[in-house]
Amino acid sequence: MKRILSGIQPSGALTLGNYLGAIKNFVTLQQAHECLFMIVDLHAITVPQDRLVLRQHIKELAALYVACGIDPKKAHIFIQSEVPAHTALSWVLTCHASMGELSRMTQFKDKSAKQEETGGHISAGLFNYPVLMAADVLLYDVDLVPVGDDQKQHMELTRDLAGRFNSKYGDTFKIPEVFIPPQGARIMSLQDPTKKMSKSDENTKNFVLLTDELHVIQKKIKSAVTDSESTIGYDPVNRPGISNLLDIYSCLTGETIETLVAKYEGKGYGDFKSELAEVVVTTLEPIQQRMKDILQSGEIDDILDQGRDAAMKLAFKKLSKVNHKVGLGRKR
Ligand code: AQP
Repeated sequence: MKRILSGIQPSGALTLGNYLGAIKNFVTLQQAHECLFMIVDLHAITVPQDRLVLRQHIKELAALYVACGIDPKKAHIFIQSEVPAHTALSWVLTCHASMGELSRMTQFKDKSAKQEETGGHISAGLFNYPVLMAADVLLYDVDLVPVGDDQKQHMELTRDLAGRFNSKYGDTFKIPEVFIPPQGARIMSLQDPTKKMSKSDENTKNFVLLTDELHVIQKKIKSAVTDSESTIGYDPVNRPGISNLLDIYSCLTGETIETLVAKYEGKGYGDFKSELAEVVVTTLEPIQQRMKDILQSGEIDDILDQGRDAAMKLAFKKLSKVNHKVGLGRKR
Protein backbone atom coordinates (compact mmCIF):
# COMPACT_ATOMS: atom_id res chain seq x y z
CA MET A 1 0.00 0.00 0.00
CA LYS A 2 1.37 3.38 -1.01
CA ARG A 3 0.66 6.79 0.47
CA ILE A 4 -0.91 9.14 -2.04
CA LEU A 5 -1.62 12.86 -1.80
CA SER A 6 -3.14 15.36 -4.16
CA GLY A 7 -5.15 18.55 -4.04
CA ILE A 8 -7.38 20.88 -5.96
CA GLN A 9 -7.68 24.65 -5.65
CA PRO A 10 -11.09 26.05 -4.65
CA SER A 11 -10.48 28.79 -7.21
CA GLY A 12 -13.86 28.22 -8.85
CA ALA A 13 -16.41 25.51 -9.40
CA LEU A 14 -14.67 22.42 -10.76
CA THR A 15 -14.51 21.59 -14.45
CA LEU A 16 -14.80 18.33 -16.31
CA GLY A 17 -11.00 18.63 -16.71
CA ASN A 18 -10.52 18.56 -12.92
CA TYR A 19 -12.84 15.55 -12.72
CA LEU A 20 -11.22 13.50 -15.50
CA GLY A 21 -7.64 14.59 -14.80
CA ALA A 22 -7.83 14.35 -11.03
CA ILE A 23 -10.89 13.26 -9.01
CA LYS A 24 -11.85 10.23 -11.12
CA ASN A 25 -8.35 8.83 -10.57
CA PHE A 26 -8.46 9.65 -6.86
CA VAL A 27 -11.56 7.48 -6.56
CA THR A 28 -9.75 4.53 -8.15
CA LEU A 29 -6.54 5.03 -6.17
CA GLN A 30 -8.29 5.08 -2.77
CA GLN A 31 -9.28 1.42 -3.25
CA ALA A 32 -5.71 0.17 -2.82
CA HIS A 33 -3.80 2.99 -1.14
CA GLU A 34 -3.71 5.33 1.85
CA CYS A 35 -4.90 8.65 0.45
CA LEU A 36 -4.88 12.28 1.51
CA PHE A 37 -6.90 14.69 -0.62
CA MET A 38 -6.63 18.41 0.06
CA ILE A 39 -8.57 21.51 -0.72
CA VAL A 40 -5.66 23.84 -1.39
CA ASP A 41 -7.16 27.17 -0.39
CA LEU A 42 -3.72 28.73 0.28
CA HIS A 43 -2.86 28.09 -3.35
CA ALA A 44 -6.14 29.66 -4.44
CA ILE A 45 -5.27 33.03 -2.85
CA THR A 46 -2.13 33.39 -5.00
CA VAL A 47 -4.54 35.17 -7.35
CA PRO A 48 -7.30 37.50 -6.10
CA GLN A 49 -10.39 35.80 -4.63
CA ASP A 50 -13.63 37.11 -3.18
CA ARG A 51 -13.63 35.90 0.44
CA LEU A 52 -17.28 34.83 0.56
CA VAL A 53 -17.10 33.06 -2.78
CA LEU A 54 -13.87 31.34 -1.73
CA ARG A 55 -15.50 30.05 1.45
CA GLN A 56 -18.38 28.69 -0.58
CA HIS A 57 -16.05 26.99 -3.08
CA ILE A 58 -14.10 25.34 -0.24
CA LYS A 59 -17.23 23.66 1.16
CA GLU A 60 -18.50 22.77 -2.30
CA LEU A 61 -15.20 21.20 -3.29
CA ALA A 62 -15.23 19.08 -0.14
CA ALA A 63 -18.78 17.97 -0.93
CA LEU A 64 -17.82 17.27 -4.55
CA TYR A 65 -14.95 15.03 -3.51
CA VAL A 66 -17.41 12.89 -1.59
CA ALA A 67 -20.15 13.14 -4.24
CA CYS A 68 -17.71 11.93 -6.91
CA GLY A 69 -16.95 8.84 -4.85
CA ILE A 70 -14.12 9.66 -2.45
CA ASP A 71 -14.90 7.73 0.69
CA PRO A 72 -13.94 9.64 3.87
CA LYS A 73 -13.54 6.28 5.62
CA LYS A 74 -10.79 5.37 3.16
CA ALA A 75 -9.23 8.78 2.45
CA HIS A 76 -8.48 11.85 4.54
CA ILE A 77 -10.10 14.97 3.09
CA PHE A 78 -8.83 18.23 4.59
CA ILE A 79 -8.41 21.96 4.02
CA GLN A 80 -4.79 22.99 3.52
CA SER A 81 -5.00 26.21 5.59
CA GLU A 82 -6.29 24.26 8.60
CA VAL A 83 -2.93 22.46 8.87
CA PRO A 84 -0.45 25.30 9.59
CA ALA A 85 2.57 23.03 9.02
CA HIS A 86 2.08 23.60 5.26
CA THR A 87 3.01 27.27 5.45
CA ALA A 88 5.75 26.61 8.01
CA LEU A 89 7.50 24.03 5.84
CA SER A 90 6.91 26.14 2.77
CA TRP A 91 8.97 28.93 4.34
CA VAL A 92 11.88 26.61 5.12
CA LEU A 93 11.79 25.26 1.56
CA THR A 94 11.53 28.80 0.13
CA CYS A 95 14.88 29.49 1.79
CA HIS A 96 16.33 26.53 -0.11
CA ALA A 97 14.79 27.32 -3.52
CA SER A 98 16.39 29.70 -6.00
CA MET A 99 14.76 32.65 -7.76
CA GLY A 100 16.09 31.23 -11.03
CA GLU A 101 14.33 27.88 -10.79
CA LEU A 102 11.05 29.47 -9.70
CA SER A 103 11.23 31.96 -12.59
CA ARG A 104 11.35 29.06 -15.03
CA MET A 105 7.96 27.64 -13.98
CA THR A 106 5.59 27.71 -16.95
CA GLN A 107 2.49 28.08 -14.79
CA PHE A 108 3.96 31.20 -13.16
CA LYS A 109 4.72 32.67 -16.58
CA ASP A 110 1.18 31.92 -17.83
CA LYS A 111 -0.66 33.06 -14.72
CA SER A 112 1.44 36.21 -14.22
CA ALA A 113 0.92 37.15 -17.88
CA LYS A 114 -2.83 36.74 -17.35
CA GLN A 115 -2.70 38.94 -14.23
CA GLU A 116 -0.77 41.57 -16.15
CA GLU A 117 -3.25 41.51 -19.05
CA THR A 118 -6.16 42.14 -16.69
CA GLY A 119 -4.32 44.87 -14.80
CA GLY A 120 -4.03 42.79 -11.62
CA HIS A 121 -0.89 42.68 -9.47
CA ILE A 122 1.39 39.65 -9.52
CA SER A 123 1.74 38.37 -5.98
CA ALA A 124 4.91 36.92 -4.52
CA GLY A 125 2.61 34.06 -3.51
CA LEU A 126 2.07 33.22 -7.17
CA PHE A 127 5.84 33.08 -7.62
CA ASN A 128 6.17 30.81 -4.56
CA TYR A 129 3.22 28.59 -5.49
CA PRO A 130 5.40 25.59 -6.45
CA VAL A 131 7.29 25.72 -3.14
CA LEU A 132 4.03 25.56 -1.19
CA MET A 133 3.08 22.60 -3.36
CA ALA A 134 6.41 20.94 -2.52
CA ALA A 135 5.68 21.48 1.19
CA ASP A 136 2.20 19.91 0.78
CA VAL A 137 3.75 16.77 -0.61
CA LEU A 138 6.94 16.49 1.45
CA LEU A 139 5.17 16.86 4.80
CA TYR A 140 3.55 13.46 4.46
CA ASP A 141 6.23 11.04 3.19
CA VAL A 142 4.12 10.56 0.13
CA ASP A 143 4.97 7.80 -2.38
CA LEU A 144 2.87 8.96 -5.29
CA VAL A 145 1.29 12.23 -6.40
CA PRO A 146 -1.43 11.97 -9.05
CA VAL A 147 -1.56 15.18 -11.08
CA GLY A 148 -2.55 16.35 -14.54
CA ASP A 149 0.02 17.05 -17.19
CA ASP A 150 0.19 20.75 -16.24
CA GLN A 151 1.64 20.01 -12.79
CA LYS A 152 4.55 17.87 -13.99
CA GLN A 153 7.08 20.71 -13.79
CA HIS A 154 6.05 21.58 -10.22
CA MET A 155 6.54 17.98 -9.20
CA GLU A 156 10.03 17.97 -10.70
CA LEU A 157 10.83 20.98 -8.50
CA THR A 158 9.40 19.14 -5.47
CA ARG A 159 11.72 16.23 -6.15
CA ASP A 160 14.70 18.57 -6.63
CA LEU A 161 14.01 20.42 -3.38
CA ALA A 162 13.64 17.16 -1.45
CA GLY A 163 16.90 15.84 -2.89
CA ARG A 164 18.73 19.12 -2.13
CA PHE A 165 17.47 19.19 1.45
CA ASN A 166 18.36 15.53 2.02
CA SER A 167 21.90 15.99 0.78
CA LYS A 168 22.42 19.04 2.98
CA TYR A 169 20.80 17.81 6.22
CA GLY A 170 20.65 14.03 5.85
CA ASP A 171 17.72 11.85 4.92
CA THR A 172 14.55 13.81 5.78
CA PHE A 173 12.08 13.68 2.91
CA LYS A 174 10.79 10.79 0.87
CA ILE A 175 11.21 11.62 -2.83
CA PRO A 176 7.77 11.17 -4.37
CA GLU A 177 6.91 9.67 -7.73
CA VAL A 178 4.51 11.45 -10.06
CA PHE A 179 1.47 9.68 -11.41
CA ILE A 180 0.15 11.16 -14.67
CA PRO A 181 -3.06 9.34 -15.60
CA PRO A 182 -2.79 7.50 -18.93
CA GLN A 183 -5.99 9.21 -20.05
CA GLY A 184 -7.57 12.55 -19.19
CA ALA A 185 -4.29 14.17 -18.14
CA ARG A 186 -5.06 17.21 -20.28
CA ILE A 187 -8.65 18.00 -21.17
CA MET A 188 -8.72 21.00 -23.47
CA SER A 189 -10.94 24.06 -23.71
CA LEU A 190 -14.14 23.52 -25.71
CA GLN A 191 -13.82 26.71 -27.76
CA ASP A 192 -10.02 26.84 -28.02
CA PRO A 193 -8.82 23.24 -27.90
CA THR A 194 -5.17 24.28 -28.05
CA LYS A 195 -5.34 25.45 -24.41
CA LYS A 196 -6.19 23.58 -21.22
CA MET A 197 -9.73 23.59 -19.84
CA SER A 198 -9.44 25.80 -16.72
CA LYS A 199 -11.99 26.74 -14.09
CA SER A 200 -10.75 30.35 -13.94
CA ASP A 201 -11.23 30.93 -17.68
CA GLU A 202 -13.30 34.09 -18.27
CA ASN A 203 -15.15 32.51 -21.18
CA THR A 204 -17.68 30.13 -19.62
CA LYS A 205 -18.18 28.34 -22.95
CA ASN A 206 -14.64 27.00 -22.68
CA PHE A 207 -15.46 24.64 -19.86
CA VAL A 208 -18.14 22.34 -18.52
CA LEU A 209 -18.54 22.80 -14.78
CA LEU A 210 -19.50 19.75 -12.74
CA THR A 211 -22.25 21.94 -11.29
CA ASP A 212 -23.53 23.43 -14.56
CA GLU A 213 -27.23 22.96 -15.17
CA LEU A 214 -27.84 19.92 -17.37
CA HIS A 215 -29.25 21.89 -20.29
CA VAL A 216 -26.20 24.21 -20.16
CA ILE A 217 -23.88 21.20 -20.31
CA GLN A 218 -25.72 19.90 -23.38
CA LYS A 219 -25.42 23.28 -25.06
CA LYS A 220 -21.71 23.69 -24.30
CA ILE A 221 -20.82 20.25 -25.67
CA LYS A 222 -22.96 20.71 -28.76
CA SER A 223 -21.32 24.05 -29.55
CA ALA A 224 -17.74 22.83 -28.95
CA VAL A 225 -15.34 23.79 -31.73
CA THR A 226 -14.37 20.97 -34.11
CA ASP A 227 -13.05 21.44 -37.67
CA SER A 228 -14.16 21.51 -41.28
CA GLU A 229 -13.66 17.79 -41.88
CA SER A 230 -16.65 15.52 -42.02
CA THR A 231 -15.46 12.37 -40.25
CA ILE A 232 -14.92 11.53 -36.60
CA GLY A 233 -11.16 11.02 -36.30
CA TYR A 234 -8.41 11.26 -33.68
CA ASP A 235 -5.46 13.52 -34.41
CA PRO A 236 -4.67 15.80 -31.44
CA VAL A 237 -2.13 17.90 -33.40
CA ASN A 238 -4.10 18.63 -36.55
CA ARG A 239 -7.65 18.11 -35.25
CA PRO A 240 -7.48 19.16 -31.56
CA GLY A 241 -11.23 19.89 -31.16
CA ILE A 242 -12.69 16.53 -32.16
CA SER A 243 -9.74 14.71 -30.55
CA ASN A 244 -10.46 16.44 -27.22
CA LEU A 245 -14.13 15.41 -27.44
CA LEU A 246 -13.08 11.83 -28.19
CA ASP A 247 -10.78 11.91 -25.15
CA ILE A 248 -13.65 13.10 -22.95
CA TYR A 249 -15.98 10.43 -24.35
CA SER A 250 -13.40 7.70 -23.90
CA CYS A 251 -12.53 8.74 -20.32
CA LEU A 252 -16.17 8.80 -19.30
CA THR A 253 -17.25 5.51 -20.86
CA GLY A 254 -14.04 3.49 -20.78
CA GLU A 255 -14.42 2.78 -24.51
CA THR A 256 -11.15 3.08 -26.42
CA ILE A 257 -10.63 5.83 -28.99
CA GLU A 258 -10.42 3.18 -31.75
CA THR A 259 -13.80 1.73 -30.70
CA LEU A 260 -15.37 5.18 -30.70
CA VAL A 261 -13.93 6.12 -34.10
CA ALA A 262 -15.29 2.84 -35.52
CA LYS A 263 -18.67 3.39 -33.79
CA TYR A 264 -19.09 6.82 -35.42
CA GLU A 265 -17.85 5.86 -38.88
CA GLY A 266 -20.20 7.38 -41.43
CA LYS A 267 -21.84 9.63 -38.81
CA GLY A 268 -21.44 13.41 -38.51
CA TYR A 269 -20.36 15.76 -35.73
CA GLY A 270 -24.00 16.47 -34.81
CA ASP A 271 -24.77 12.86 -33.83
CA PHE A 272 -21.44 12.47 -32.08
CA LYS A 273 -21.81 15.63 -30.00
CA SER A 274 -25.43 14.86 -29.04
CA GLU A 275 -24.45 11.43 -27.76
CA LEU A 276 -21.39 12.78 -25.95
CA ALA A 277 -23.58 15.45 -24.32
CA GLU A 278 -25.85 12.65 -23.10
CA VAL A 279 -22.87 10.72 -21.68
CA VAL A 280 -21.65 13.81 -19.81
CA VAL A 281 -25.10 14.58 -18.42
CA THR A 282 -25.65 10.96 -17.34
CA THR A 283 -22.35 11.05 -15.43
CA LEU A 284 -22.85 14.43 -13.80
CA GLU A 285 -26.54 14.28 -12.85
CA PRO A 286 -26.10 11.79 -9.95
CA ILE A 287 -22.96 13.62 -8.77
CA GLN A 288 -24.89 16.90 -8.61
CA GLN A 289 -27.71 15.24 -6.67
CA ARG A 290 -25.31 13.65 -4.16
CA MET A 291 -23.48 16.96 -3.74
CA LYS A 292 -26.74 18.73 -2.85
CA ASP A 293 -27.64 16.00 -0.33
CA ILE A 294 -24.19 16.13 1.30
CA LEU A 295 -24.26 19.90 1.64
CA GLN A 296 -27.76 19.81 3.12
CA SER A 297 -26.90 17.07 5.62
CA GLY A 298 -24.09 19.10 7.22
CA GLU A 299 -21.88 15.99 7.40
CA ILE A 300 -19.08 17.72 5.54
CA ASP A 301 -17.81 19.56 8.64
CA ASP A 302 -17.26 16.29 10.50
CA ILE A 303 -15.45 14.84 7.50
CA LEU A 304 -13.17 17.90 7.29
CA ASP A 305 -12.50 17.89 11.06
CA GLN A 306 -11.46 14.24 10.96
CA GLY A 307 -9.30 14.82 7.89
CA ARG A 308 -7.60 17.83 9.49
CA ASP A 309 -6.83 15.95 12.72
CA ALA A 310 -5.27 13.01 10.86
CA ALA A 311 -3.22 15.30 8.61
CA MET A 312 -2.06 17.48 11.55
CA LYS A 313 -0.60 14.48 13.37
CA LEU A 314 1.48 13.42 10.39
CA ALA A 315 2.50 16.94 9.42
CA PHE A 316 3.58 18.05 12.89
CA LYS A 317 5.99 15.12 13.17
CA LYS A 318 7.71 15.94 9.90
CA LEU A 319 7.84 19.68 10.58
CA SER A 320 9.48 19.12 13.99
CA LYS A 321 12.13 16.97 12.33
CA VAL A 322 12.79 19.62 9.68
CA ASN A 323 12.99 22.48 12.21
CA HIS A 324 15.43 20.49 14.30
CA LYS A 325 17.65 19.70 11.30
CA VAL A 326 17.75 23.30 10.14
CA GLY A 327 18.48 24.57 13.66
CA LEU A 328 15.26 26.49 14.26
CA GLY A 329 13.87 27.14 17.74
CA ARG A 330 15.32 25.75 20.94
CA LYS A 331 16.80 22.43 21.96
CA ARG A 332 15.40 21.09 25.27
N1 AQP B 1 -7.95 20.54 -18.17
C1 AQP B 1 -7.47 19.64 -17.33
N2 AQP B 1 -7.28 18.37 -17.74
C2 AQP B 1 -6.79 17.44 -16.89
N3 AQP B 1 -6.48 17.69 -15.60
C3 AQP B 1 -6.67 18.92 -15.15
N4 AQP B 1 -6.47 19.51 -13.95
C4 AQP B 1 -6.84 20.80 -14.00
N5 AQP B 1 -7.27 21.11 -15.23
C5 AQP B 1 -7.18 19.97 -15.98
C6 AQP B 1 -5.95 18.80 -12.79
O1 AQP B 1 -6.83 19.05 -11.70
C7 AQP B 1 -6.06 19.06 -10.50
C8 AQP B 1 -6.41 20.26 -9.70
O2 AQP B 1 -6.03 21.42 -10.37
P1 AQP B 1 -6.00 22.79 -9.61
O3 AQP B 1 -7.34 23.34 -9.49
O4 AQP B 1 -5.29 22.66 -8.32
O5 AQP B 1 -5.07 23.67 -10.49
P2 AQP B 1 -5.04 23.89 -12.02
O6 AQP B 1 -4.30 22.78 -12.68
O7 AQP B 1 -4.48 25.25 -12.20
O8 AQP B 1 -6.58 23.79 -12.45
P3 AQP B 1 -7.43 24.86 -13.20
O9 AQP B 1 -8.79 24.31 -13.40
O10 AQP B 1 -6.69 25.30 -14.43
O11 AQP B 1 -7.52 25.99 -12.12
P4 AQP B 1 -7.22 27.53 -12.26
O12 AQP B 1 -8.02 27.98 -13.44
O13 AQP B 1 -7.67 28.11 -10.98
O14 AQP B 1 -5.75 27.66 -12.47
C9 AQP B 1 -4.58 19.00 -10.89
O15 AQP B 1 -4.13 17.68 -10.70
C10 AQP B 1 -4.61 19.36 -12.33
O16 AQP B 1 -3.54 18.79 -13.04
